[in-house]
Amino acid sequence: MITIKGPAEFALMRQAGRVVARVHRELREAAVPGVAMLELDLLAARIIAEEDCTSNFLNYHGYPAHVCLSPNEVIVHGIPDSRKVAEGDILSLDAGAIYRGWHGDAAITFAIGEVPPETQALMDATERALWAGIEASVPGARLGDVGHAIEAVAIEAGFGVVREYTGHGIGQQMHEEPQVLNYGQPGKGMRLKAGMAIAIEPMFNLGGEATRVLDDHWSVVTTDGSLSAHFEHTIAITKNGPEVLTLP
Ligand code: MF3
Ligand code: CO
Repeated sequence: MITIKGPAEFALMRQAGRVVARVHRELREAAVPGVAMLELDLLAARIIAEEDCTSNFLNYHGYPAHVCLSPNEVIVHGIPDSRKVAEGDILSLDAGAIYRGWHGDAAITFAIGEVPPETQALMDATERALWAGIEASVPGARLGDVGHAIEAVAIEAGFGVVREYTGHGIGQQMHEEPQVLNYGQPGKGMRLKAGMAIAIEPMFNLGGEATRVLDDHWSVVTTDGSLSAHFEHTIAITKNGPEVLTLP
């Protein structure tokens, strides 16, 4: 599965990634106590349009917004609504953009104001796991190496790894083959090659791994109500190693 066939395509994917990074920067800054999730979604829509992009989330299997905003015990796919950002929340922001047919997709989790040290540790470990997965994504490595690198961080830190949702190939569609699991066995699975693009996205919970979907049919929450963090980057595998396309 080679996604990027040449420099022209690579340039388009880089641009999609830059736009996603801009959405992250601006929404993170705008996410202060009292701002409604829907206002943040509107801001994302404005940025995406201004950058000559379209949203890959809007209408995806009927998804009704431009970004996913998943507070606290919501793991992923939270739908922006009238709920306001509050001091002490953690908020996962997942955003994507399509530029001339090419996709970017990335997620961050951040605190609104002060949070307890263990909450910060959860976010830090999840971000560290993303980077461990990225560093393992070199040509010739296998997907099991990537998943193992991610899982090892969760085990060491003592957090639950969400298994029902995964990373994915990305390119001319948001979700392409292969699935990129957040756990795995070294030396197993598909071999990575230059030209592939993947989205790596660990989700760790303060408590157990179990998940449940709310009645809105989208929001995925921890069954035990514990906090959850999510970090994601779109990366290209190049002969020189991974290139992260969605850096803020
Ligand atoms: N960005 C998510 C992912 O990382 C998918 C969001 S799909 C949506 O794969 F429909 F919820 F937007
Ligand atoms: Co993704």
